Amino acid sequence: MGIWDSVARLLGRKKDIKQEFASIPKHIAIIPDGNGRWAKKRGLPRNVGHREGSMALKKVVIYCSEAGVKYLTVYAFSTENWKRPKSEVDALMSLLVEFLRNAEKELDGSNVKIKVIGDVKGLPEELQKEIIRVEKLTGINNGLNLNICLNYGGRLELLHAVKEIAVKVKSGNLKIDEIDERQFESCLYTSGIPEPDLLIRTSGEQRISNFLLWQCAYTEFWFINELWPDVNGSHIAEAIKAYEKRNRRFGGLEQ
Ligand code: FPP
Repeated sequence: MGIWDSVARLLGRKKDIKQEFASIPKHIAIIPDGNGRWAKKRGLPRNVGHREGSMALKKVVIYCSEAGVKYLTVYAFSTENWKRPKSEVDALMSLLVEFLRNAEKELDGSNVKIKVIGDVKGLPEELQKEIIRVEKLTGINNGLNLNICLNYGGRLELLHAVKEIAVKVKSGNLKIDEIDERQFESCLYTSGIPEPDLLIRTSGEQRISNFLLWQCAYTEFWFINELWPDVNGSHIAEAIKAYEKRNRRFGGLEQ
């Protein structure tokens, strides 16, 4: 049985998982860190860690669907990741193509809507084609929104938005006084996607690494010591439980 069939099967039990939580974050963002270290610990090539990482991602997608999370945004390849050896970059790109291809084949019934966020034009052509295909295929779904960040950098995204605003001002379509948060957000890659409620980073590292810099202004952070390939639904459940206890004030006073 394919992973996406499992999603469909598990969706039948969706209610059970939902009942475990008093409040589910609408949007969870994830920095899946530690694939390389997972492989190194076992004396395996880094690429094996990435493959295991892609399987962990599928498990987490299933869990989040089942829990009723509406948006899941995953940092799969940053604008800085091009600095890695070509062999690793190539392997990651092939893995991404494979991931999207399998999603297409096995998606029936999962209701997951896939969107890629980032500078897609800078990605290999084969991957770009898969992205267009899978986004179109899943575009009508209304279950979990799975956003995969590829060739994504928070600074690049902010610069992209600034340039778009500048073009609007220069062409007379926007007055400087009209530039506000709403206007700016509409120029981000994530336009239309609510800000993450919870950001999870694995592998014990505690930094944001150029991820969703604007969007995480009031996001709650949760760090997990496990390396990404070892992560499963139980870790996400733990993160949601911790999130429930947070007191979100957004700069205001406690209610
Ligand atoms: C961080 O581990 C992970 C990445 C840079 C890539 C993320 C990739 C995946 C989650 C798997 C592939 C995803 C899809 C959608 C197919 P690292 O390499 O930085 O690990 P290290 O810090 O231990 O070296």
